[in-house]
Amino acid sequence: MIFHSTLATLSLALAASAAAAPLLKETLASGFRDPMEVAVAADGDLYVVEREGRVLRINPRTGGIFEIAVISVEALRQTDPNSAYAREDGLLGIALDPHFEKNQRLFLYYSAPDVIANRLSRFTLKDGRIDPASELKMLEIPTERENRVCHHGGSVEFGPDGLLYVSSGDNTNPFESSGVAPIDDREGRTERDAQRSAGNTNDLRGKIIRIKPTETGYEIPPGNLFPKGKANTLPEIYVMGCRNPFRISIDPKTKALYWGEVGPDGRDNTDKGPRGHDEVNQAKAAGNFGWPFAIADNKPYPIFDFATNTVGKMTDPAAPENPGQRNTGLKVLPPAQPALIWYPYAKSDEFPGMGEGGRNAMAGPVFYYDPSKKYNILGKEDDRTLLTYEWMRGIIFKAKLDAQEKVEKLEVLMDKLVHPMDLEMAKDGSLILLEYGSDWYFNGNGSVSRLRPDDGNKPPTITIKAAANNYSVDKAEDPEGGKIVVTWYLTEGVTERILGAGSTVTVPEGNFQEIRAVATDDKGAIAIARIPLGGSGELPKLALELGKTEDKPGFGESLNFTVNSERAPDPGQVSVRARYIPPTGHDAGGPEFPEDAAKLANASQCFACHQVDSGTVGPSYLSISLRYRDRADATDYLRQKLKTGGAGAWGEVPMPPQVALKPEDSEKIIAAILSLSQGMTEIRGTTNGEIRLAADIGAEPGGAWEISAEAPGYAPARTRIPSK
Ligand code: HEC
Repeated sequence: MIFHSTLATLSLALAASAAAAPLLKETLASGFRDPMEVAVAADGDLYVVEREGRVLRINPRTGGIFEIAVISVEALRQTDPNSAYAREDGLLGIALDPHFEKNQRLFLYYSAPDVIANRLSRFTLKDGRIDPASELKMLEIPTERENRVCHHGGSVEFGPDGLLYVSSGDNTNPFESSGVAPIDDREGRTERDAQRSAGNTNDLRGKIIRIKPTETGYEIPPGNLFPKGKANTLPEIYVMGCRNPFRISIDPKTKALYWGEVGPDGRDNTDKGPRGHDEVNQAKAAGNFGWPFAIADNKPYPIFDFATNTVGKMTDPAAPENPGQRNTGLKVLPPAQPALIWYPYAKSDEFPGMGEGGRNAMAGPVFYYDPSKKYNILGKEDDRTLLTYEWMRGIIFKAKLDAQEKVEKLEVLMDKLVHPMDLEMAKDGSLILLEYGSDWYFNGNGSVSRLRPDDGNKPPTITIKAAANNYSVDKAEDPEGGKIVVTWYLTEGVTERILGAGSTVTVPEGNFQEIRAVATDDKGAIAIARIPLGGSGELPKLALELGKTEDKPGFGESLNFTVNSERAPDPGQVSVRARYIPPTGHDAGGPEFPEDAAKLANASQCFACHQVDSGTVGPSYLSISLRYRDRADATDYLRQKLKTGGAGAWGEVPMPPQVALKPEDSEKIIAAILSLSQGMTEIRGTTNGEIRLAADIGAEPGGAWEISAEAPGYAPARTRIPSK
């Protein structure tokens, strides 16, 4: 069999800009699904999060793309693309710890599937993957998800002083307030009222928070907006009055905070308020940036009464008031701060350089000229220039700042980008650009590229071909006619192997996902060609078929099932489970430890060897629960086993004696383990049988049954059907 690679991932484009020297754009990796934010490690590796939960590491030197985690998140899915629920939720942001090389820690901000909140968590990498058991939940921001609420911000960044900034949006439905301020105070209009969030000093939505991470959580640094302990305020708030502060950046020298603020839709000034503007903001100190009571250069909104349809008192930007009935914070807010740059849909009088059309402002980083760096993307004359970008307009702008950090000059740096989503400065002075892809949702063409000054050297091109397990260069050319070296890499899980250099290689036996040839010319420019390999690194998936389910099955009834896979599983290894999910309350998609028990188990390192519903070193807690829950002496037996440790119940690997575990904690954890399988039944050892559903457990009927099939060496199957 012979086939040719068609995917040369390195493409080249010159930025059209009269003023600046052209930049070279090198695409490092593509094919991302709605990438949200990128973080650059000191060694140059890139970490990208995707909206639906994947975390990827990219090696820009070899083009290697490695999936290091899939975080379970609440997000809009292609199976229900028009849902009014959780439309902008997902895995929203990522930042690496300032000491990432040493401690392998990173921070993710995501829409939790188990509670209705957006959560900031710290994770640690283990053997190149995010270790789920390492999660330290640092902060949760309760949100609403119903009724087409939008705006979560979600950018996570460290400042040069080690403080962590997280942006959060107003979590408000923007579609039912005529494109002006959503301050709908009527009963039942919660999701249309940003007075409860962005304008509320006692709520973390519509804010940029600033905290100092510690080993076990965080502290409040000095200089935030409200002192710790001040009534009706929250000390995490650094900036309030934000609508959707989408991408943020901190000046590495002055520590000024920059963010792009996505503004409301109104096209015209009316008596209900000014037309909508997007903003690029700068906070040199903590402050209130106005929303939903003022916008742009402090253009005020009147307090509009949605019940009587009348325009009320005009906001005073110097002492804005929040009269909302859902406001739990201060009535009189800190003075509103004007934006650094503001612009409507139409051409802006103040900032004509921004152009016109759709709006979606993003901000940062700040460029400083530094001759000690490998690259300077701008010249010396542009020292201290804020790079801002526009998701809708597909443009990166450069805003030269003067000595007072005000905008002196604003020009296009690069255009024709595909929804620029994040922009980061790498250590070598190049820029890392994340592009979201062409659509609002469900993209498959997101990409990450490097922008650097064009040195006139064009990168080489390469295509490769395969015959059986031999791979060879089909064509490799350097436009300048220079010498090309080709190096081959194999992707194996989250790592890669160098296979050798030269025009031909042979792939050894193994489960490899991809082979790549990297062509490097004599000036160091590279091109990459890839061929996916059969060994996907993924496990074969089980398929689960259920018998008649039209008559919704109820408690105590039975269901026929068949389990299959492309490679037939050994029936003796298969287990099928059915779990009842009540109609009320939120379901995480799997049984969970109660928080206090999880904390104890975490502190005792139990999760190093156990997970809730998949077997690792030790058996899954769910399996333990199913095995012992009906045994009268279960608690005594397990307590004893934890004390002595030992092997034999599940396999040959022994559990060490849990000597440090206090008896009362041991009891609590065991109780949590045993109750995990509530409402669950199991049948083992057959691929074709009947599973009895749980008897009435006192839960409200009308929920759903989750049926799952598992076997070692297979990806599990899981499906839900409505219950009687
Ligand atoms: C170093 C790995 C390791 C750690 C740490 C560990 N376990 Fe285990 N655990 C195991 C193994 C392996 C088994 C299976 C033992 C067997 O086959 O008898 C096991 C079995 C169990 C069982 C079932 C015992 C039985 O006889 O069926 C329970 C309950 C359990 N562990 C709870 C805990 C709790 C709670 C903690 C934390 C306090 C913990 N484990 C920490 C490895 C570990």
